[in-house]
Amino acid sequence: MKIRIFRQKVPDSEPYWEAFNYDGTMEISVAGMLDKLNFGDDIINDLGEKTDRIGWDCSCLQGMCGACAMVINETPALACETFLKNLKGDEVVLRPLRKFPVVHDLIVDRSVIHETLKSTNVYIGEYNPKGKEDHEHQYAVANCLKCGLCLEVCPNYTDGKSFYGAVYANDCYLVKARNREKAGDIRSSYAGHFANSCSKALSCMEVCPMHIPTLSSMAKMNR
Ligand code: SF4
Ligand code: FES
Repeated sequence: MKIRIFRQKVPDSEPYWEAFNYDGTMEISVAGMLDKLNFGDDIINDLGEKTDRIGWDCSCLQGMCGACAMVINETPALACETFLKNLKGDEVVLRPLRKFPVVHDLIVDRSVIHETLKSTNVYIGEYNPKGKEDHEHQYAVANCLKCGLCLEVCPNYTDGKSFYGAVYANDCYLVKARNREKAGDIRSSYAGHFANSCSKALSCMEVCPMHIPTLSSMAKMNR
């Protein structure tokens, strides 16, 4: 199987394509396959040349941290949750997420997500719940990995400077539900940075590995 990777040595350097031959099992995730390609003293590309190890990020390897988010055959997904046997075709094409600056190969800098939440005060602070009625939804939303897959497919999210996307909308809901002192500020921040720019494409919900009910968060915030 051919593995084609869009690589970049360092930030702002010229990106390039490099391909590898993989002849191992199909009962393996993209993360596991990348590990196998990187294993050994020399990394050899499909031209038989020695090359650098492939840069990619991971932590949990079980769909819980979001670090391995990348674009796999043009679909944003978690590498540790995507299995070769479920991919169509005889080639796997890997790219880094396109809405964030590339650090190295498949590793991107997603710090803009956290900077946005910090600068708009969208973090819980003192836990001060408004009520218990919404606990099921709060629990679902709290599963967000901050992986950025929803931002990759969002037609309105560009570089995170004006429209902040689904991850922000969900956290706004969560903070509003859990800290009543912040609720007023969060509502106006949400209106300015999300509600006025979201076109309800809802592609974010289709790719979210945690199946976060973003539409429901939006409805609760709008109400
Ligand atoms: S909402 Fe889903 S896709 Fe978006 S950052 Fe959170 S876990 Fe990832
Ligand atoms: S390594 Fe944690 S989600 Fe894939």
